[in-house]
Amino acid sequence: MKEILAEAVDLKKWFPVKRGFFSTIFSKKQMFVRAVDGISFKIAKREVFGLAGESGSGKTTTGRLMLKLIEPTAGDVYFEGKKITTLPEKDLKEMRRTMQIIFQDPYESLNPRMTISDIVEEPLSVLGIGSREEKEEKVSKTLEDVELMPAEEFLFRFPHELSGGQRQRVAVARALILDPKFIVADEPVSMLDVSIRAEVLKLMLDLVKNFNISLLYITHDLALARHMCDRLAIMYLGKIMEMAPTEKIVYEPLHPYTNALISVVPIPDPSSERTEVVIKGEIPSPINPPSGCRFHTRCPEYLGDICRTKEPAIIELKKEHYVACHKYTKK
Ligand SMILES: Nc1ncnc2c1ncn2[C@@H]1O[C@H](COP(=O)(O)OP(=O)(O)OP(=O)(O)O)[C@@H](O)[C@H]1O
Ligand SMILES: [Mg+2]
Repeated sequence: MKEILAEAVDLKKWFPVKRGFFSTIFSKKQMFVRAVDGISFKIAKREVFGLAGESGSGKTTTGRLMLKLIEPTAGDVYFEGKKITTLPEKDLKEMRRTMQIIFQDPYESLNPRMTISDIVEEPLSVLGIGSREEKEEKVSKTLEDVELMPAEEFLFRFPHELSGGQRQRVAVARALILDPKFIVADEPVSMLDVSIRAEVLKLMLDLVKNFNISLLYITHDLALARHMCDRLAIMYLGKIMEMAPTEKIVYEPLHPYTNALISVVPIPDPSSERTEVVIKGEIPSPINPPSGCRFHTRCPEYLGDICRTKEPAIIELKKEHYVACHKYTKK
């Protein structure tokens, strides 16, 4: 694999379930939401790595762990070869500058009382980077990078004076201004009008490629993910079920869960014969995830006892194509 920028090693995040007074008194065992439950992956330099899966599968939690916005319950995160999980906060400062996040909702993530100029400049000011002129110049350049042109037209406006797409471009500019190496984009276009999603994504893709940035792209929309990502990991209840280059996931899915997700994504290939696979039932609670393979309660290819009792290990079944399913390992 190419040079690695970021890596997760057996990462876990369990959130304690808040308990009421009575359940504390009658001392039931402390329970945990197993949001992320032992996942490993690597992100190469300049790579766009996608995390996909149903709501509640642990995608956002993974993104926050990778940026050390929250502490893992177990496991480690490496950034440029350094273990950041145990790094003291003072040593993290410089590293934080090179890691940024773009949130789902550009209405909530931008301060409504600040001008676009102040919003985009703020990260520089907080870190005391550049003189006044240098900052002004950098803000204008960055606004032009995200195609808010001419920059003067946007500098003194407020977020509510922009469209949703323009607002998300401002959020991208704010993430870019510190010349990051790694960006986590958490469903960055899901609040936007369908008609402008593709152009905002295309812009992000061009920017990360031009500026040599690695992107962790979080989404539940596989139709968009397949255009964005070099590789994809499919998550289910805190676990990675399958991970491979995007083309492999789309055209040769191995896991029954991936297969079901992919079967409903439109593919412009008239020669491919596919039948839609409907996943039955709702995603179970991550508090007490199903025993064995956590997908077994909904799996269309359920094999019986082995799936119910034994957790399948994730293995590299084909080159760079990882899957966790007993279908491939049972003798
Ligand atoms: N701070 C928290 N405290 C307790 N539980 C949490 C916390 N954050 C997330 N969870 C739980 O962890 C699980 C995974 O949540 P997460 O937000 O990572 O999922 P997601 O894949 O991003 O979902 P979505 O597609 O809806 O954004 C969920 O069951 C969620 O309720
Ligand atoms: Mg999320």
